[in-house]
Amino acid sequence: MKAQMKTSPKRVLAFPPIVASLAWLCALSASGSWGSAQREQAPRPATSDRSDDDADRQERLALGKRAFEENCLMCHAAEMAAGQRLTSAQWTTEVDKMIGWGAPLPPELKDDLLAYLTSSFSPSAAPAALARIKLAQALAPIAPEPNLPSGDAARGAPLYVAQCANCHGPDGRGAELGTSLVEKPVLNRPSEFSTVIRAGRRRMPGFDKVLTGAQVVDIFAWLREQRSPSMASLKQ
Ligand code: HEC
Ligand code: HEC
Repeated sequence: MKAQMKTSPKRVLAFPPIVASLAWLCALSASGSWGSAQREQAPRPATSDRSDDDADRQERLALGKRAFEENCLMCHAAEMAAGQRLTSAQWTTEVDKMIGWGAPLPPELKDDLLAYLTSSFSPSAAPAALARIKLAQALAPIAPEPNLPSGDAARGAPLYVAQCANCHGPDGRGAELGTSLVEKPVLNRPSEFSTVIRAGRRRMPGFDKVLTGAQVVDIFAWLREQRSPSMASLKQ
């Protein structure tokens, strides 16, 4: 398809200009479209390979954006990437680094993700606007909640093994599909914890129909016991 795309403008330009214009008008009235991309191009039928190619590219970028949302936002916000201005080679290095750090990106989506990152956040993109927020706003999503529920860690252990260990690892410290849970602020935030487990989040399914509220609290208690002594000895 790519090879055809390169040859088609030449073919069209080989017509005498008047014939080419007529062909262009016919194509336009057939499609009813005055898209700006078409206006800048040499005359061609509306269903040209180029528009197929554009559609392919748009689809690719959409897949890449979705791969970004589902595989990159579990440890940091989108701004961590959107604030960068990197070349294609630098984005490749960056994505490989993040995979090494635990981003569960399926290999077949890597090219689409790179296409999205490179086209959106390249050195030629406009400078990133840095948002200013108040300290209290920045701390709110990680601040410990005042009251901890009293769950039963011994009851939570087998539930964790059955429902969570596949993705988050046998000790809660992360595996291929899920990130580490044990050194995360969410273990000081029981209501956020319950919300994530009930509703799911991006690539994590919800357990609304699988676990009762009390069982979620038991898993929470067990996970808190898995923290390293230094984390456990911090406030709470
Ligand atoms: C397992 C957690 C995790 C996942 C998943 C993850 N990152 Fe990161 N990322 C980090 C950490 C940790 C940092 C360093 C943060 C800091 O410096 O404060 C970081 C930093 C970055 C930076 C800033 C430059 C740098 O290297 O410090 C970019 C850009 C970035 N990540 C992009 C991505 C992209 C794209 C993905 C998806 C493929 C992704 N991240 C997935 C943990 C993660
Ligand atoms: C299919 C894999 C999968 C299963 C099963 C799964 N998780 Fe997750 N979990 C994930 C992924 C992936 C994320 C990161 C979601 C995101 O932010 O994009 C996550 C995120 C979380 C978070 C939020 C972490 C944070 O830093 O805020 C908690 C808490 C959590 N999981 C707990 C559990 C518990 C408890 C279970 C079992 C009841 C479970 N998960 C089962 C994949 C899974």
